[in-house]
Amino acid sequence: MKLLLSLCLAAFKGIRTSAQTLYLAGDSTMALGGGGNGTQGWGVYLPNYLDMPVVNNAVAGTSARSYSDLGYFATLIDQAKAGDYAVIEFGHNDVASETGVDNGTQDAVGEGYNVTELVTATNGSTILIHSFAYYIENAVSALEAKGVTPIVSSLTPDNIWTTMAPIQIAAGGRFVTYAQGVSQDTGIVFIDHFDYVAQAYDALGETTVDTFYSSNDHLHTLPAGATVVAEAFVRGDSTMAPGGGGNGTDGWGQYVSQYLSGITVVNDAIAGRSARSFTEEGSFTAMINTVKAGDFVVIEVSDNFRPMCCLESGSHDAYGDSLTYNETITLANGTLDVIHTFNYYMTNAVNSFKTKGAIPIISAQTPDDIWNGTLITDPPRFVPYAAEVAGNTSVAYVNHYAYVAQAYEALGEATVDPWYPIDHTHTLPAGANVVAEAFIRGLLCGTSPLKAHVNAAGKAVSNACL
Ligand SMILES: *[C@@H]1O[C@H](CO)[C@@H](O)[C@H](O)[C@H]1NC(C)=O
Ligand SMILES: *[C@@H]1O[C@H](CO)[C@@H](O)[C@H](O)[C@H]1NC(C)=O
Ligand SMILES: *[C@@H]1O[C@H](CO)[C@@H](O)[C@H](O)[C@H]1NC(C)=O
Ligand SMILES: *[C@@H]1O[C@H](CO)[C@@H](O)[C@H](O)[C@H]1NC(C)=O
Ligand SMILES: *[C@@H]1O[C@H](CO)[C@@H](O)[C@H](O)[C@H]1NC(C)=O
Ligand SMILES: *[C@@H]1O[C@H](CO)[C@@H](O)[C@H](O)[C@H]1NC(C)=O
Ligand SMILES: *[C@@H]1O[C@H](CO)[C@@H](O)[C@H](O)[C@H]1NC(C)=O
Ligand SMILES: *[C@@H]1O[C@H](CO)[C@@H](O)[C@H](O)[C@H]1NC(C)=O
Ligand SMILES: *[C@@H]1O[C@H](CO)[C@@H](O)[C@H](O)[C@H]1NC(C)=O
Repeated sequence: MKLLLSLCLAAFKGIRTSAQTLYLAGDSTMALGGGGNGTQGWGVYLPNYLDMPVVNNAVAGTSARSYSDLGYFATLIDQAKAGDYAVIEFGHNDVASETGVDNGTQDAVGEGYNVTELVTATNGSTILIHSFAYYIENAVSALEAKGVTPIVSSLTPDNIWTTMAPIQIAAGGRFVTYAQGVSQDTGIVFIDHFDYVAQAYDALGETTVDTFYSSNDHLHTLPAGATVVAEAFVRGDSTMAPGGGGNGTDGWGQYVSQYLSGITVVNDAIAGRSARSFTEEGSFTAMINTVKAGDFVVIEVSDNFRPMCCLESGSHDAYGDSLTYNETITLANGTLDVIHTFNYYMTNAVNSFKTKGAIPIISAQTPDDIWNGTLITDPPRFVPYAAEVAGNTSVAYVNHYAYVAQAYEALGEATVDPWYPIDHTHTLPAGANVVAEAFIRGLLCGTSPLKAHVNAAGKAVSNACL
């Protein structure tokens, strides 16, 4: 028996307004038009998953160094305004050219800001080049000085698989490590995009993933692949996943298992990145396929981003809680799409899990660290919506929002604020643990048979039933 934390995650939760823009800096794997020949960069599909404008400034052929040297960072820094976000993802063009002559995109090899190298330019002169981290961290400083929030993302994998079992996407190279290092140096959020895509690809299998690429190109995705890569990026920004939001913050999912016994906890905020696309009817096939009869599945979907798990396209849910109301929206590419409500998608998800014999538990989203005097601010409408879906589908409900609010209010803002070093959403481990404890408290106070698995440590978590 397993407990699956199947979380439909929201990117940039709680700190976004429609006035904010997300800028993208990267290479052809992100850019409009991809690498040509019908391929497309993943940045083209990202707007389908976010409720904010996306400006795709990716330029094919660039590296951290050439994006900097050719002035693209300067342009982006110039365009962006305080409150905006900038995702920076490089690595594919950052390796040294095979000729031994500098081709303008290679970085000095090595991790960290202070790595340099002397190389021979095409005109024969010797020039000094810097590391991947140097170019990106300089851009990060300039962005932060403008009040823009940079996010560093690891490069996407190639369609290259291990030759021995287990057959899976070949491991990421040094540029994954370098991107993570930038996050460590600067404290900005890191999204391990490589790993999230690899997980999605591994779950789909090589035969399916091969259809995302043309035979002579294992780097540039066709549109179907670019969509999976965009989804993996959105999944990568999680308040629940290990690594949380950078600067040492952590998601709550991994802290739950210490309070349970006799059950394996699968944090699908991670494993769930393998969930690829869900059918147009909103059933989330890949996730459904992994659950077994008797498994518990916690579904916690946050805020007014359309639930990742349930939609194939569109930018948000239709407003309200009706099961039949829908809206027709125009996608970025001009196609019309019918979108449904949060409750519609959640209800379908619950029913799909039930069909497999799994036991869904609906958990309300967790609050942001935003206070109203001595209290956490009132919940958004998605909290009562979640309760309504649980009631109508007769599944257990944990008002995770209220239980976290209770725990936070008992501790006070002065204790809680330091757990949020970056924003109102991403907690340090101490906070993530309190959020996990609040889930256990809510579980103990509810009706789910999962509570039989709460161990002594879980029974000892503080606070009372609401
Ligand atoms: C496009 O495909 C053709 C035929 O396979 C190939 O010769 C060409 O190099 C490809 N172009 C790009 C930009 O990949
Ligand atoms: C430089 O060479 C590397 C390694 O072959 C390659 O990845 C990169 O795209 C090249 N850059 C340019 C501008 O040709
Ligand atoms: C780079 O080296 C300089 C000089 O040694 C040092 O002051 C600086 O802190 C280093 N920067 C980083 C990011 O390591
Ligand atoms: C040679 O090329 C490098 C790199 O483009 C450039 O910085 C340098 O000014 C050039 N030197 C001469 C003498 O043209
Ligand atoms: C437009 O985008 C949607 C979502 O990515 C896709 O399903 C649809 O096929 C696209 N339509 C066209 C005409 O490209
Ligand atoms: C959207 O709502 C309209 C009006 O209630 C209904 O006729 C239509 O079938 C709905 N469309 C979908 C795709 O559910
Ligand atoms: C702030 O608290 C008051 C009193 O409890 C409440 O009426 C109000 O709705 C709260 N506002 C927000 C934004 O939470
Ligand atoms: C729940 O049931 C009520 C009463 O039948 C109905 O009005 C409401 O639309 C339902 N909501 C959902 C999300 O199922
Ligand atoms: C991360 O932590 C460092 C050191 O405490 C701090 O300087 C930096 O501003 C933090 N980053 C963010 C994004 O808050």
